[in-house]
Amino acid sequence: MSNQFTPNNPLPQEVKVPEEIAKFSPEVEAEIDAHLAKYPVKRSAILPLMFIVQRERGGYLDPPGVAYLADRLGVRITDIWEVATFYSMINTEPVGKYHIQICKTLSCKVMGEPKITEHVCKRLGIKPGETTADGRFTVSLVECLGSCGTAPMFQIGFDYHENLTPEKVDEILDRCERDEYVFQHGRLT
Ligand code: FES
Repeated sequence: MSNQFTPNNPLPQEVKVPEEIAKFSPEVEAEIDAHLAKYPVKRSAILPLMFIVQRERGGYLDPPGVAYLADRLGVRITDIWEVATFYSMINTEPVGKYHIQICKTLSCKVMGEPKITEHVCKRLGIKPGETTADGRFTVSLVECLGSCGTAPMFQIGFDYHENLTPEKVDEILDRCERDEYVFQHGRLT
């Protein structure tokens, strides 16, 4: 594989290219090839490839993972960051096993998001954007998750938890703390 990064346009500022580039098993490379083969333009596969790299790099896009994506997709490092920082399902920092993404947009806000956020954060002893010291829980506030009719809600992995109350939150967090939480639709990582 080439280590060349293909610039589309000149950049106004210097971009630091990570020195290390991620490497993956033949199985993962085959999975990536299968996604690339679906599109006439390589960069169109950016999101599926990001999910794979995130999964393989411990749950977030680390600099070697970003370098790999730029190389495979033939885009600039900044193109990767532009997309990665737009979508809340792509992590650019390490997150806990239980990444609680609380919707903070209008319907959820009106229906009690502040109370839910306060309850979650108080119980875990962290603020939004932080991870617990044991690395197990991360809390994030995110924009509308498309479940406005069942507000307030949050997402853990790909699972939606809707019509939340403090009691419901406690029941979910109890299961997480006892490691009895079963991901219904898988983890984001
Ligand atoms: S406003 Fe919360 S899911 Fe849409």
